Amino acid sequence: MKFNLEKLVRPTILSLKPYSSARDEFQGNAAIFLDANENPYPSAFNRYPDPHQLKLKQKLSRIKDVPIDQIFLGNGSDEPIDLLIRAFCEPGVDNVLIPQPTYGMYTVSSEINNVSIKSIRLTKDFDLDVAPLRNSWDSKTKLIFLCSPNNPSGNLLTEEKVLSILRDFPGIVVMDEAYVDFTGSKGFVPYLKEFPNLVILQTLSKAWGLAAIRLGMCFASTEIIALLNKIKPPYNISILSQQVAEEALNHESAKNAHVFEIIESRKKLASDLTGIKLVKKVFQSDANFLLVQVTNAKKIYQELVNRGIIVRDRSNVILCDNCLRITVGTPVENQKLVSELSQL
Ligand SMILES: Cc1ncc(COP(=O)(O)O)c(C=O)c1O
Repeated sequence: MKFNLEKLVRPTILSLKPYSSARDEFQGNAAIFLDANENPYPSAFNRYPDPHQLKLKQKLSRIKDVPIDQIFLGNGSDEPIDLLIRAFCEPGVDNVLIPQPTYGMYTVSSEINNVSIKSIRLTKDFDLDVAPLRNSWDSKTKLIFLCSPNNPSGNLLTEEKVLSILRDFPGIVVMDEAYVDFTGSKGFVPYLKEFPNLVILQTLSKAWGLAAIRLGMCFASTEIIALLNKIKPPYNISILSQQVAEEALNHESAKNAHVFEIIESRKKLASDLTGIKLVKKVFQSDANFLLVQVTNAKKIYQELVNRGIIVRDRSNVILCDNCLRITVGTPVENQKLVSELSQL
């Protein structure tokens, strides 16, 4: 399929003259900075942070094997989700395609931006149903949101199916890989060179254990990354977040050790849950959580709350009848959950 980025972008965004910050206009060392209306009295925080987060991107570039100009950093993944919608979808005119059930922010961000949503269903195993998906997109469909491993189901989407969408869809395919570190898969980063319509979202919130600093990553072509940079708020990543992330990225082995522990715990938890009477099904998971079908989700959710354990009731979500989504905790936390469930 012929891909034409200029045709996809909203005309207002294409012609937009972006805000130019003081730190855009002068980068480098100087004795005196009187350009940004900052407070001149020194503290750790009196200067604006690097708007392009270069030092952090250099580290990420090495870890992820993605060139710096193909990396965008956002205030959580939720910022690039919103910016992608605003860059490509004309409110009231264009639409996005979202296979359900999946992460809720694609829908909420689209609705905030008055962009209509074409929802189709995943299969009952939560994989892509390619034929209905192809039949659903039209000339106004700008983005397809795919989540792999998918939230709330935990499974990876079949790679071949995603590739066929990437080949045939003339718009942008957004692959949300928030949970990719918990899989044995390399994800779609290796395909960035091949597909100019591929956008990948990852985050430091899950495997890296940094949900509090709000650091979402987006990998795409240099042209798409330039568009996101054009419309982002100038200093969208605070110096605190940049510093904490830079420090954490020096300790990749610590992250890998946690991921290993979590995967081992996931296997044990899945097996323990399977033996409990009120558990009907534990869905296969490649993430740091399990989707679990029980006899009566609402009641069991409340019983767990009463015992001080909070899981996520997903029973109102399509294809998730009587399902709870349970994050893999520490071995002690998991054992407590299993023990309480066994006694219910
Ligand atoms: C699929 C998916 N994407 C993104 C996020 C949010 O990531 P962030 O913390 O980077 O905003 C979540 C959070 O639960 C998620 O499940």
